[in-house]
This record gives sequence, structure tokens and C-alpha cells, in this order.
Amino acid sequence: MVVAGARPNFMKIAPLLKAVQANGVSPGGSKLQYRLVHTGQHYDAKMSDAFFRELGLPAPDVNLEVGSASHAKQTSEIMARFEPVCELEKPDWVIVVGDVNSTMACTLVCAKLQIKVAHVEAGLRSFDRTMPEEINRIVTDALADLLLTPSKDANQNLEHEGIDQAKIKLVGNIMIDTLVQNLSQARQGRTLDKYGIKERQFVYVTLHRPSNVDIKPSLAQIMAELKRLAKDMPVVFPAHPRTQKMLADFNISDTGDSGMKLTEPIGYCDSVQLTEQARFVLTDSGGLQEESTFFRTPCLTLRPNTERPITLKLGSNKLTSLERLRSDIEEVLAGPDRIGSVPPLWDGHTARRCVDCIQATPDH
Ligand code: UD1
Repeated sequence: MVVAGARPNFMKIAPLLKAVQANGVSPGGSKLQYRLVHTGQHYDAKMSDAFFRELGLPAPDVNLEVGSASHAKQTSEIMARFEPVCELEKPDWVIVVGDVNSTMACTLVCAKLQIKVAHVEAGLRSFDRTMPEEINRIVTDALADLLLTPSKDANQNLEHEGIDQAKIKLVGNIMIDTLVQNLSQARQGRTLDKYGIKERQFVYVTLHRPSNVDIKPSLAQIMAELKRLAKDMPVVFPAHPRTQKMLADFNISDTGDSGMKLTEPIGYCDSVQLTEQARFVLTDSGGLQEESTFFRTPCLTLRPNTERPITLKLGSNKLTSLERLRSDIEEVLAGPDRIGSVPPLWDGHTARRCVDCIQATPDH
């Protein structure tokens, strides 16, 4: 049973489902069966349905339709609605991905029901427990039976936490599978024309973390910096619903300048094309730090830390802050337009390795 709940999960389950269909054979020789569960954590057409369509995902077998709520309410609602599905379907394995509330909630249910859990993208740590995702990562990894990691640093984090090494498998980055599979389609799109922008002559911005957008002075300062930047170079900023809501609540006006293109959330292929073609990316998203590293597009991450340090060490990523934002932007613009290298095993074959590991795990 494969679980997805929020936007970044959809890119991670798409290659997994394909790999299960293509390679999954049970010990008895019959094809592996799967069920897809959508928790409904994200429900807007632009945050969910659009990705199912674009990534060719099958309709979920079950939609728990939990919607938005406080962390405790959302997590507990997912648990309460997921438990009867597990009791009915009796899966041999549940596969969870990433670090959203759905990931942790479903893992907790399975641990109590003694259903085996495989966590894809295990072992990432920001060491910042003010981030809700860090709590989700720690709990999920403590309980999962198979920890499928994207990079060596993740293995080391899990080993430091005393997790049995036999459970930890380095499989590579599942997001890159989706990127590789959709790249030619993304390149055929007319994304740049749509925004009236040119290759390497615009900035791609995504910001949605509570630490950046839920605090009025921070969001106001970010928008002021972006408007300043937009005078020299177009800024494409598709705003997450949370960001849109906070801009409205704080009464922060969006543009006032034609170079600033504040839009609704965009689709996957548009985002891929913007990441590949941007002069640089400014983000607080985990996925975009990785995707820009794959394209070697310079990336500034507006956060004090990252759970993806390999993007700093090998890739094109640099952490920034509100204080340093302007000088970091100047530095990036003065530097080369492609930097860094692609980490090992970010090769488009991670999903197959995940399925192989699940099948090779005893008692399956
Ligand atoms: C969640 C994940 C975060 C991930 C992000 C990607 C957790 C703790 N956080 O954050 O790790 O980076 O998704 O998008 O799981 N909303 C809508 N429509 C939707 C979904 C949300 O309008 O389809 C609005 C609601 O007002 C909601 C707010 O966005 O309250 C935040 O949504 P939520 O799922 O709680 O967290 P995200 O910020 O999206």
C-alpha cells in the first residue's frame, strides 16, 4: 500500500508505482498488487489533481479526505481514517515517502498494527526541531522497518540514532527518477513564453515555510527584496496557498512592478522548466534544492539549515537569510550560471532499487 498526502509526495510515488508494476513479482511468482491511498492533506486542484494528471498517476483507491487542520488534528484524523483501511486491506508493506504529516501519521498506525513500513527518503535531518517536518522524519524513521535513503549523510544520521544498520539501504533520490522521466516533456512546454521571459534571464522563487511566510515583517521584507530584484530581472513566484493567504492577511501588495510575476501554484513540468532555465532559484522547498542541484542551477535556500546537506556540499545550493539575501543575490548574479555536480545515485533508477530492497527484505 502506497501513501501520499501532500504535493511533494506525488512526485515521489509516481516512479514507485511504475516500478512496482514493472518489476514487482511476489515470492510465489505472481505480480505484486498495490493500493494507492491519498490522505487528502492537500486537496486543491492545483496542489493535487493537477499532479495526478500530469504524472500519469492512477486515481487513488482510497481518499481519506482529511483536509487542513492544526498539526494534532490533521495527524490524528489521518490516523483514525487510515487504521480501518489497513485492517481491511491487510497490506504486507506500507510505503511512505518524504516528511509530511501524512508520512508520520500512517507510519504510526502501521507500527501499532505490526504492518511493515518502508520509508523512502529516510534519514534526512535538519537538526532543527522547530520544523514540523523534522519531527515527522524522526518519528517515521524510528518506527519504519526499511529505511531507504537518498545519500550517504542520511545513512550516517540513522546510524547515529542507533538504528539497526540492516534496515538502512542507500537507494538514491526518488525525486530525480520523476525528473528524468518527465524531462523531455517538460522541455517541450512553452513555459518561458507564457511568462514572457528568456532563458537564464529570470529568477524562479518558491516560498511557503511557516518560518518565512507566517511572520509579517519577514514576509514584507522578502517581498520588498523581490520587488527590488524584479526591477533588474523578471521574478516568477508561484505562491503556495499558505503564502497567498498570508500575503492577503498581512495586506502585503504583490507586484506594482511588471517584472514581478506572482502567480497561482504551477504544474510539475512548468516548475521543472523554470528550474532548468532560471538564472537562479530562491526557495525554501526541499524538492527544489534537489532539482536545482540536478540541473546545476544556482540555488539560494532561505532557511538557517537544510536536511539536504549534500546539495550544499556537492550541489548548487547555498543557505541564505533575510540579512544576507541582498548580498547573496549579488554574489550569485556575479558568478557562473551553472555550478556544482550531481550526487551519486541521483540517476533515475531509485524506484527500482526501492522495490528490489522491499522484495529482498526477509518475511516478505
Ligand atoms: C505541507 C508539508 C510541508 C511541505 C508542503 C508542500 C507538513 C507538516 N507540511 O506544508 O512539509 O513542504 O506541504 O506544499 O506536512 N491549503 C490549501 N489547499 C491545499 C492544501 C493546503 O489551501 O490543497 C492551505 C490551507 O490553508 C492550509 C495551509 O495551506 O492550512 C497549509 O497546508 P498544510 O498541508 O497544513 O501545510 P503546508 O504548508 O502545505
